Amino acid sequence: MASKIVGLGMHAPPKKLTNHDLEKMVETSDSWILERTGIRSRRIADPGGANSDLALIASKRALADAGVRPEDIDLIVVGTCTADMPLPSTACFLQMKLGARNACAMDVNAACSGFLYSLSVADALIRAGRGKKALVLGSEVLSSIVDYTDRSTCILFGDGAGAAVLAECAEGEGILSCHLQSDGGLWELIHCPGPGTVNPLTPDLISRRMMYLRMSGNETFKHAVTKMADVAMKALSENGFGIDDVALFIPHQANLRIINAVGKRLGVPPDRVFVNLEQYGNTSAASIPIALSEAKAQGRIMPGDLALLVAFGAGLTWASALIRM
Ligand code: UT7
Repeated sequence: MASKIVGLGMHAPPKKLTNHDLEKMVETSDSWILERTGIRSRRIADPGGANSDLALIASKRALADAGVRPEDIDLIVVGTCTADMPLPSTACFLQMKLGARNACAMDVNAACSGFLYSLSVADALIRAGRGKKALVLGSEVLSSIVDYTDRSTCILFGDGAGAAVLAECAEGEGILSCHLQSDGGLWELIHCPGPGTVNPLTPDLISRRMMYLRMSGNETFKHAVTKMADVAMKALSENGFGIDDVALFIPHQANLRIINAVGKRLGVPPDRVFVNLEQYGNTSAASIPIALSEAKAQGRIMPGDLALLVAFGAGLTWASALIRM
């Protein structure tokens, strides 16, 4: 057996943080942000808002879209790097809130690649006969680890959740492949130093603002372009497809210039590239399932179409999935 996506849903908190709002917080401008990133605004959860609450709304929408009941789900995998608590997993909170009493639940932390890593885990478990239906999420409250005094990062990130319901299908349908790659040697490019075992929670950690995300944007940018293009090409070549076979290319929504550069390398026409970062910013693991969900709702992707999903993030991690919708 293989697995396929039978339902999709997304949720973004209503509160908007616009470029003009950021102009009042750090030394930046709407024109700089728009020109360098393509982002106009992002959605922000209320302070203390649980990641699992965003995930819950996205999950309910995906289950309704699939016509599947929570108790029919065997497996919940949440891709996130902004968990509700260090333990238990956000997936366990989601299971409780959803009433998915027959599911086992786990988080996968692959930062912005989290949804594709989670999709791959769920697909592999279904293929191994360890469950028939899975709920897979990318869900983040990035605002909880963003330093709103750092203009090089606070302009990028937003909060949100996207969910997909997977069900068994015949081999050759649904998820045709997942390719996952990592390079831990490049961890310093994007990281959040603490609190953790290396940098425990101390007054010093707080005074040095080490609980916030740090990024070498320019260096990360270069890796994002080459690695996303490479792993996308791997998906196509290993399945015997060319870029012309792909109905919609859905890249991680980090920066419009990255998306354009990757699209150019792949030779995909702009009208077959899905972009929604203008309104959500970079929602890390949530960006691809939010985009996929919106693409389906807007009729940009139809049953039988081939979708190519590509992610990149901290770790470094990067990944692709080729999907027959
Ligand atoms: O999702 C996970 C992966 N993350 C990514 O893929 C993000 C990748 N990186 C990026 O998106 C871009 O590197 C950024 C948007 C973060 C930065 O854009 P950039 O074109 O790489 O700018 P830069 O870092 O080279 O900075 C250029 C200039 C610098 O000033 P000087 O040194 O030239 O005087 C920065 O200090 O722009 C300055 N700058 C800003 N100016 C106004 C940096 N941030 C801002 C800002 N507003 N918000």
